[in-house]
Amino acid sequence: MSYLESALLAFWLFIPAYVANPSAVLFGGMGPIDSRRLWKDGKRILGDGKTWSGLVGGTMAAMFIGVLQIAIAAGAGSADYLGFGDTPRAYWLIFLLAFGSLWGDILGSFIKRRLGKERGAKFYGLDQYDFVLGAFLLVGLLEWDWLYSNFMEGKHIIGLVVILVLTPILHKAVNVLGYKMGKKDVPW
Ligand code: CTP
Ligand code: MG
Repeated sequence: MSYLESALLAFWLFIPAYVANPSAVLFGGMGPIDSRRLWKDGKRILGDGKTWSGLVGGTMAAMFIGVLQIAIAAGAGSADYLGFGDTPRAYWLIFLLAFGSLWGDILGSFIKRRLGKERGAKFYGLDQYDFVLGAFLLVGLLEWDWLYSNFMEGKHIIGLVVILVLTPILHKAVNVLGYKMGKKDVPW
């Protein structure tokens, strides 16, 4: 596999993680995960920006797209369903990517609240990468071999580079779009 192919493969495999967060914005807003409770510091544990409807909706939307990806890859004749491997494990991987990305975003909000930043406040770096970290952490913990062979091993290291370089650009584009659609209060 060439560097270009490895790069494209990594992006393709990371799509469920990329879909989960913007979908949480679309479906979110109902049922704050922290039930409005406060942490020891007197601030919200997570804040109103992290809701059950966002978590569930984001997971479902990413699963839907992932299942579509498997169907497309299988339909195109790929034996390993283009990188996700056999079902049902492929669905498990997609779930981990989506769920990990959403919990990474939730962890990001937890950290923001502890640092005294209000819901929606900008935090450069964390806002862009919290979900990537979450996805890599969860997948790495439970499916390390798959993560390593597709995003790190040999030429596949370009995969990690692609995700790290592309993420802030995609994040910016999607957030400006969400802002213009009236789905987000701020363009970040
Ligand atoms: N959202 C949600 N549930 C989630 C994630 C996101 O309901 N698990 C919705 C919320 O309406 C949130 C919006 O998507 O306001 C934008 O997400 P994000 O930018 O991550 O949240 P912020 O409002 O900026 O809050 P925070 O400062 O905690 O990141
Ligand atoms: Mg935000």
